[in-house]
Amino acid sequence: MKKQSKRVKAATYMDKFSRLFRCPICHASIQVKNLQSLVCLNNHDFNIAKQGYVNLATKQAKTKYDKQLFQARKEVMQENKFFNPLLQKVSEIIIDHLNDYPETFTVVDMGCGEGSHLSSICKIIQSQTKKELIGIGIDLSKEGIIEATKQERDHIWAVADIANAPFKDEQFAVILNILSPSNYEAFERLLKTNGLLIKVIPQSNYLKELREAFIEKENLKTYSNEKTVNHFQKHFHLNERFRLTYTTILSRQTMKSLLHMTPLTWNISKERMDAFLKEINEKKITVDLDILVGVK
Ligand SMILES: C[S@@+](CC[C@H](N)C(=O)[O-])C[C@H]1O[C@@H](n2cnc3c(N)ncnc32)[C@H](O)[C@@H]1O
Ligand SMILES: [Zn+2]
Repeated sequence: MKKQSKRVKAATYMDKFSRLFRCPICHASIQVKNLQSLVCLNNHDFNIAKQGYVNLATKQAKTKYDKQLFQARKEVMQENKFFNPLLQKVSEIIIDHLNDYPETFTVVDMGCGEGSHLSSICKIIQSQTKKELIGIGIDLSKEGIIEATKQERDHIWAVADIANAPFKDEQFAVILNILSPSNYEAFERLLKTNGLLIKVIPQSNYLKELREAFIEKENLKTYSNEKTVNHFQKHFHLNERFRLTYTTILSRQTMKSLLHMTPLTWNISKERMDAFLKEINEKKITVDLDILVGVK
């Protein structure tokens, strides 16, 4: 039997759940047309790419998150399982609320990057429930979304802006927002009445070894997330807050990927990073995160 193209497979899956979408330009309903594109009632047409994602961004985004960064992120996650304790904890939070969700429920990852978080979380949840779970990842970076289409599970991947998310109101049981910018007005509109907003933000010791090595200004060496938490609480009721702190040992090769995946080192010269890497065989790195669980 002929193998289905990635475009046809993705279009068929999107067709099944096209009720979730709305046009990012005119907000009308959207349908899949000829397994080629998403088209709204007013004929705004969004191509489904051969890699199996749809581009629903209304303007071309310029971002510092490029292909190399997403590949580096993927390497760090696959080789070192860097975020595994986080993914496990987030999945448990969602699983604890399974009874609140309908038989088919949707988890959307806003700012999903290369998609491994959404993919891993959905895998863990699906192993614990017979309910049907739809996973959707959006990101403004096309490079991130193209990487995401290589994930093994069926998901909907879309290039889209969190601030102009192309979905109808109150469609999502869970909104994930992991180390990415927020738009609380959009989250409020999109979340179901009893849904969960799960936002992950750095805590003061997140990647502290990199801060110590590369950041000179004393006041930048430490970081407080209180402003972010206060902003979150202006829009959502903070139901639970978990701090997750652990260390992990990275090989020199994985350290190299870590240096490329984090905005912390964006302004650091290649020579300085090479000198840093030369001195280490492996290095202990601290992961320190807050998980904010919000309800409307
Ligand atoms: C630090 S990365 C985190 C990616 C992923 N959640 C992870 O933890 O690996 C931040 C992401 O937010 C995305 N982003 C920034 N602004 C956005 C917006 N307005 N809409 C959608 N995505 C956005 C970037 O493209 C980038 O992929
Ligand atoms: Zn339209």
